[in-house]
Amino acid sequence: MLRIGMLTSGGDCQALNAAMRGVVKGICSKIKDVEIYGFKEGYKGLIYANFEMLTPKDFSGILTMGGTILGTSRQPFKLMRVPDEKGLDKVEAMKHTYHKLNLNCLVILGGNGTHKTANLLREEGLNIITLPKTIDNDLWGTDMTFGFQSAVDIATNTIDCIHTTATSHSRIFIVEVMGHKVGWVTLHAGIAGGADIILIPEIPYDIEVVAEAIRRRTEAGKHFTILAVAEGAISKKDAKLSKKEYKEKLRNRKYPSIAYEVAEELKERTGQEIRITVPGHTQRGGSPCPYDRVLATRLGAAAAELIMTEQYGYMVGIRNGETTKVPLKEVAGKLKTVQPDSGIVQEAKITGISFGDK
Ligand code: F6P
Repeated sequence: MLRIGMLTSGGDCQALNAAMRGVVKGICSKIKDVEIYGFKEGYKGLIYANFEMLTPKDFSGILTMGGTILGTSRQPFKLMRVPDEKGLDKVEAMKHTYHKLNLNCLVILGGNGTHKTANLLREEGLNIITLPKTIDNDLWGTDMTFGFQSAVDIATNTIDCIHTTATSHSRIFIVEVMGHKVGWVTLHAGIAGGADIILIPEIPYDIEVVAEAIRRRTEAGKHFTILAVAEGAISKKDAKLSKKEYKEKLRNRKYPSIAYEVAEELKERTGQEIRITVPGHTQRGGSPCPYDRVLATRLGAAAAELIMTEQYGYMVGIRNGETTKVPLKEVAGKLKTVQPDSGIVQEAKITGISFGDK
């Protein structure tokens, strides 16, 4: 008898269901005696033993379905050791649930925060296998996370739509793309959508350089400009602040988000009309794109292989087109960021895209 626990944690993304389906199909095609415990709403379900017994049938017909059939929640790592309102130690509670159900392993689908907790549970002696989900593509140890390409598709579609209206008006358009800490989605959607300016957290911008790029376009007879701006884009000035000072600045910011701050500063400098579009959570919604369906299925199947050979303590990732197992202790706490001197950024610059840095 194989008893597997499964949970999805953190912000949702496309292809979570496809990945779980891959794991279950992979295992159940070889082993008949399997019990699947689906924990509800991420780690919360494991802490409070809120689960549902699932059968392979529950994983049929979900390949193309967005969201997660298990539900999810954010359970910040820094609060994991902080007792809940009833004084319950969350880590001990998770271990208790795991042992009480006599699980052979726990399959955890999540992003960065989720991986820190997953690694903690590994250190506490649980058998853990994880799968890299996030639209942000910022997990260390894998070239790609599932959810990323689907989000890029949606953000690109938004920029495409803006393009057609932009050609009819003399305006500056700002599309604010998801990504507080990293700019992968903004970078890819910006290039794919033909944005003129891309602002991402990894490359602090100078607003005067951004304004100058717009003026140059105007002088060249281009009557509109499209900016793809990541939620976490930061000016050079703000990048010099300490973490504490920057947090304080964000708390007191009179604008709802960075796009509005950039808009205000560009309006002053260029005198042009500006419009802002924020696709927001649509970027995490809807059906996964074919690429993500394939990736999630492959990662799920590779996870099934690890479970059936009792190899635990790994995240299953993809490198150079092949699935690979990456030790959890190497993944936890590390962020994969866009490198300012990477080929993709340099090539984008060669095509004339400004990152507002120089
Ligand atoms: O981590 C994925 C992500 O979609 C980020 O890109 C975004 O900044 C954040 O989640 C939004 O979080 P929430 O759904 O909690 O508002």
